Amino acid sequence: MCGIVGYIGHREAYPIIIEGLKRLEYRGYDSAGIALFDGTDLKVSKTKGKVLDLENRVASEISTNAKLGIGHTRWATHGVPNDINAHPHYSNSGNLVIIHNGIIENYDSLKKELIARGYTFKSDTDTEVLINLIEDVKLKENVKLGKAVQIALNQVIGAYSIAVFDKNKPDEIVIARLGSPLAVGIGEDEFFIASDASPFIEYTKNAVYLEDEEMAIIRINKGIKIRKIKDDTLVDLYVQELQMNLEQIEKGGYEHFMLKEIHEQPNAIRDTYRGRLLVKEGIIRMAGVDDNMEKFLNANRIVIVACGTSWHAGLVAEYIFEDLARIPVEVEYASEFRYRNPVITSNDVVIAISQSGETADTLAAIKLAKANGAFVFGVCNVVGSSIARETNAGAYTHAGPEIGVASTKAFTTQITVLTLIALKLAKAKGSISNSDYRYHLQELELIPEKVAKALQSDEHIKEVADIYKDARNCLYLGRGYNFPVALEGALKLKEISYIHAEGYPAAEMKHGPIALIDEQMPVIVVATKKGHYEKVVSNIQEIKSRKGKIIGIVTEGDVHVQELADHIIEVPETLEPLSPLLTTIPLQLLSYHIAVMLGKNVDQPRNLAKSVTVE
Ligand code: AGP
Repeated sequence: MCGIVGYIGHREAYPIIIEGLKRLEYRGYDSAGIALFDGTDLKVSKTKGKVLDLENRVASEISTNAKLGIGHTRWATHGVPNDINAHPHYSNSGNLVIIHNGIIENYDSLKKELIARGYTFKSDTDTEVLINLIEDVKLKENVKLGKAVQIALNQVIGAYSIAVFDKNKPDEIVIARLGSPLAVGIGEDEFFIASDASPFIEYTKNAVYLEDEEMAIIRINKGIKIRKIKDDTLVDLYVQELQMNLEQIEKGGYEHFMLKEIHEQPNAIRDTYRGRLLVKEGIIRMAGVDDNMEKFLNANRIVIVACGTSWHAGLVAEYIFEDLARIPVEVEYASEFRYRNPVITSNDVVIAISQSGETADTLAAIKLAKANGAFVFGVCNVVGSSIARETNAGAYTHAGPEIGVASTKAFTTQITVLTLIALKLAKAKGSISNSDYRYHLQELELIPEKVAKALQSDEHIKEVADIYKDARNCLYLGRGYNFPVALEGALKLKEISYIHAEGYPAAEMKHGPIALIDEQMPVIVVATKKGHYEKVVSNIQEIKSRKGKIIGIVTEGDVHVQELADHIIEVPETLEPLSPLLTTIPLQLLSYHIAVMLGKNVDQPRNLAKSVTVE
């Protein structure tokens, strides 16, 4: 995710854009930039770092008296965060300038065509390709900017919200949207453009939200015209009067960032497999794996190092890699691995998983593994983070910034990346049939809509949370793929509600934990249809016979567990290796609602930091 802001009107554009970018930093904050038209020329200033760094830099670099401008705060997907890759980006002529939130999947082929036609590129971004494609169309077809944008976008595959202007036509801004939000604030002879309404809510409450595959040409004194990108047909203007306040807008209307991020998971998972999961072609495209396929296939084993929730994602990966790709996997707490003098050789592949890419223990484990000759592959959410730079290769999750300390969308997008890798290796090794492989691809593509379906149980989960919010202890049980989900569910409850909770393999009950069971002990059991279902049902019966309170996470339509459990929460059916992507959703919501009912600081729980950069 990135934040984009634009202004055209009678006010000074600069202060509106800079303040607006600060309000959008929750969408991305690794680099920032601004383009201003000061009446005679186009000025651009951009820098690695936060909007404040940009503010300090602009003052010494460019004149800021401008009535037209666009600004951007970045969350890198292509190209590491640095001054060159920061937005805005110019076209080769220097006349056109663009800001972009999203991912152009076919940027590589478009770039090659443009280079063949003599275009040059300064940055590693897909955005610079897009602005030069627009320029190329504008010159070749001899059309206006709006038409050039429309023709160019019909050649683009991916997601975008963009704002573009031509310094030779400073009374106009062109915007477009596919897959990333874009709002227009309509004032008196002035227009505001932004990823959400927070940058302009104090200037105007009249807003228009572009729908997917729509673009708009905004001309000062002539107003705004919205068209369909595909066929240029005019779209009626629907102006809304906004009721939300600033804080509500930043959280997308949700009470907490954590809840917003839980609900972002369908899009986050889709963004993570976008351009990588090609179901029709039966291909999984991941450069970091493709370029190192021999290392993965010839490895004696895969060692996964991580902490916290990322370690739980690693545990899910162990089950997937061994089950589908038949590659031995060990999962290690990075903090233990780094000090226990592990046996690591050049025949090992180490996978390091980290949302922040800055966790000290994980970084130290990576360095130890590399010192012993292992090939290290990173799965991070922050482009250009320390771990991303330290590993030999990697694959980013495209979850967007995760602000809530309790990790949610990072977990499901990590599992998405690891599942793609496991399926890719299984296909290369021939350890699953082609039909099974394709079935997994098809089912993975359906996961975002199944996650969205699982999220619809929110009200029911809230009712269950209200019943158990005063529990002193909770037990989470799961088998197979859902044992790591039980651990993750327990961690979620612990870290935001401060209720003690433990996750266990369901079969371990009889080896001790069953002594804990009584009417005061809620037991959350993940009992999906495919995962050792009958065994888990017998575990539920053991709990019931000891008067334990049972919350069953079941496959929709399940009636057997319903007869035994005190409450059931349904998730859609899917393949067992993909079930953690669904069964974790009710556990995230359950812990969230209990914590809110207990009045806890959900986004910033006591004693916790979003990134543990110290030992
Ligand atoms: C999870 O909810 C916690 N915030 C914490 O366990 C986190 O997963 C852990 O600190 C690892 O962080 P990382 O993924 O950024 O390396």
